[in-house]
Amino acid sequence: FADNSCILVIFGGTGDLAHRKLMPALYNLLCQNQLPPNLAIVALGRRDIASDEYNYGVYESIIKFARFDLEETNWSQLRDKIYYKKLNFTDSSDFVELKTFLDKLEQKHGTGGNRIYYLAVAPEFFNVITQRLNDNGMAKNQGSWQRVVIEKPFGRDLPSAQKLNRVITGVFSERNTYRIDHYLGKEMLQNIMVIRFANMLFEPIWNNQFIDNVQITSCETVGVGSRGNYYEQSGALRDMVQNHMLQLLTLTAIEPPASLDTESIRDEKVKVLRSLEQFSPNDAFKNVVRGQYGPGYIDNEPVSGYRQEKNVSPTSGTETFVAFKANIHSFRWANVPFYIRTGKRAPVKSTEIIIQFKPLPRVLYARLFGQLNPNLLVIKIQPKEGVFFQFNAKKPGTESIIVPVQMDFCQNCRLDNNSPEAYERLLFDILRGDSTLFARWDEVEYSWRFVDNIASAWQEQQPEFPNYAAGSTGPAAAQTLLARDGREWLHTGEVIE
Ligand code: BG6
Repeated sequence: FADNSCILVIFGGTGDLAHRKLMPALYNLLCQNQLPPNLAIVALGRRDIASDEYNYGVYESIIKFARFDLEETNWSQLRDKIYYKKLNFTDSSDFVELKTFLDKLEQKHGTGGNRIYYLAVAPEFFNVITQRLNDNGMAKNQGSWQRVVIEKPFGRDLPSAQKLNRVITGVFSERNTYRIDHYLGKEMLQNIMVIRFANMLFEPIWNNQFIDNVQITSCETVGVGSRGNYYEQSGALRDMVQNHMLQLLTLTAIEPPASLDTESIRDEKVKVLRSLEQFSPNDAFKNVVRGQYGPGYIDNEPVSGYRQEKNVSPTSGTETFVAFKANIHSFRWANVPFYIRTGKRAPVKSTEIIIQFKPLPRVLYARLFGQLNPNLLVIKIQPKEGVFFQFNAKKPGTESIIVPVQMDFCQNCRLDNNSPEAYERLLFDILRGDSTLFARWDEVEYSWRFVDNIASAWQEQQPEFPNYAAGSTGPAAAQTLLARDGREWLHTGEVIE
């Protein structure tokens, strides 16, 4: 870590992300000896509170959210690095003061001019903070590095993302820009490439000769909670599809990269996004389903509908569910549909990728027993992490009966604590300057192109919302989307009869 000494400056230090994710992640890293020894953490916020009071809040967050138990010796090491400072993001004189403050800390902690500016703030502040850092000579400093971390959403559509990107890259180089997609920090997303490219068993059959279809689901039981204001502007398409769902699809579909370096991997990811078939308005109506939850039950408890949530319009047309069929125009994936689905207020929280293999020729057992169960490979991203493989075997006994059996590798069954939190991994990479798990600009650009086509088609027609009950698996049209192709949505462990 010799060259990774730095000051980590968190804009939005009093916010939810800093308390729930960033500070606990820093504590977890400290427990594993993975923080650079020369590190100072400066939390910036608009509230006028003393550092001690701020640190007390951090202490409580660590107890609640860190995966390592709070131990006083570890905590005191972290506490000694944290400073809270009041700052008005739009006030340039506050930035002059901040500069002096950081320069002093640099001396104290021996951080050698290196800085990470983490923008954990509402997107309307991304531009102004970047500008102020630049105006005050804080974005570049000879002989040291300065990195900027941008939380999502990176724009609201392609034009706004382009505009934001111009501002950021006018100040920070692409190499020093870290666009967060926290899904990329999840352990099993990183495992997708390993499963594919480290196994003779899988890679040779990872194509349209052997794969019938791919289903990618990420659903959650929570509703929109207190984020109504943001969500009304966003909806599931922008909130989940543009980033997380397309990252899942991309990693499932990429070609083997030339090497494992950052740019080779990102180059291949971009190729997938470029090969995605764009929806024409007609296709979008046929192949994309949107939904919004009405009142219903989660775990037998009544919950309200989206339109009744706080800061949501009672006639809202915002979608909380999206399902679509994507096609990738490549030799590997021609004619293999990728069915993607994401939604809030689902019966369970689950993110998984299901690869369904093609049926065998109808000879031998397939002729005698009719359609056999397909082979399935399931990559379980969360809450359980693991890989599940379904194949056919003989049921013990004198009768000839073929049953589907499963091999279930459960990564987090034995040791709950062994997988780092997404933010822990991402912060670790930012500190050591590895941007592989962050979205490059062209990934963001092509994702927005794809999503904008759907959004503009939707604008042509008012949806009939709500169209699914909280606690159900989504609108009926999502089932029809697959039924039309003679298929249905699968779940881990589910056996297709
Ligand atoms: C965020 C979205 O990016 O991802 C949220 O803004 C969503 O709406 C969340 O709930 C899901 O993340 P995870 O890690 O719980 O699957």
